Amino acid sequence: MYLRTIHALSVVLLIAVPRAIASQPCAQFSPSPIPIQQLPDYFPPHTSLDATTLLDTEAMRQTLTFYPYIIDGRAFPSLSSIFTTDAVANYSAPLGVLKGLSTIAATLEQALASFPGTQHLLGPQSVRICDSKKAISVTYYRAVHFLPQNGTVGPGDIVGGDSVLYAYGQYQDTWEKRDGLWKIVYRNLVYMGPFVTGTN
Ligand SMILES: *[C@@H]1O[C@H](CO)[C@@H](O)[C@H](O)[C@H]1NC(C)=O
Ligand SMILES: *[C@@H]1O[C@H](CO)[C@@H](O)[C@H](O)[C@H]1NC(C)=O
Repeated sequence: MYLRTIHALSVVLLIAVPRAIASQPCAQFSPSPIPIQQLPDYFPPHTSLDATTLLDTEAMRQTLTFYPYIIDGRAFPSLSSIFTTDAVANYSAPLGVLKGLSTIAATLEQALASFPGTQHLLGPQSVRICDSKKAISVTYYRAVHFLPQNGTVGPGDIVGGDSVLYAYGQYQDTWEKRDGLWKIVYRNLVYMGPFVTGTN
């Protein structure tokens, strides 16, 4: 009898979990980002998670982790593992709205060419599954851009005594699952402060 009650409870829980997640509204991250003040409304801690949600979430986390490796390693063709071919990315001023994977890759490559190196550190990260084929995520980042030192100075270079430039922001990503793979279809890069230079 006792066991039966437990069994009945677990059945109720299993049914309740997908409903709780389905009722979680997904923020509209495209085409425009949502204000940072609204993030707590859309990304409260999960009260429960089912296995499918965990697997999908982990797949997206690993894909996001791959992004700094590509950017800092200047392996831009590998961005095809992260963005769909028709992806749109709003990288904010000065880069603006980039349409299509090839434009995203070429623009980022050119924008980073003047820095001898970069390091993108990802911070807090939340993923929400909207339905079986759509998800959103928010990821904080801090990007360190090492400035050219005493080398040849040309257009796009930054001169002065500083050795690093920091950028503070977050990615608000919209995902789609196509052919079994989660990829970003729309990205908003939202800056969370000014560009700051320093001497590291
Ligand atoms: C692009 O991002 C900027 C800054 O986050 C935002 O102000 C702007 O509205 C976005 N542009 C579009 C077309 O959504
Ligand atoms: C660049 O070279 C100048 C002159 O040699 C030197 O005074 C300065 O400290 C160097 N700057 C850096 C950041 O190394």
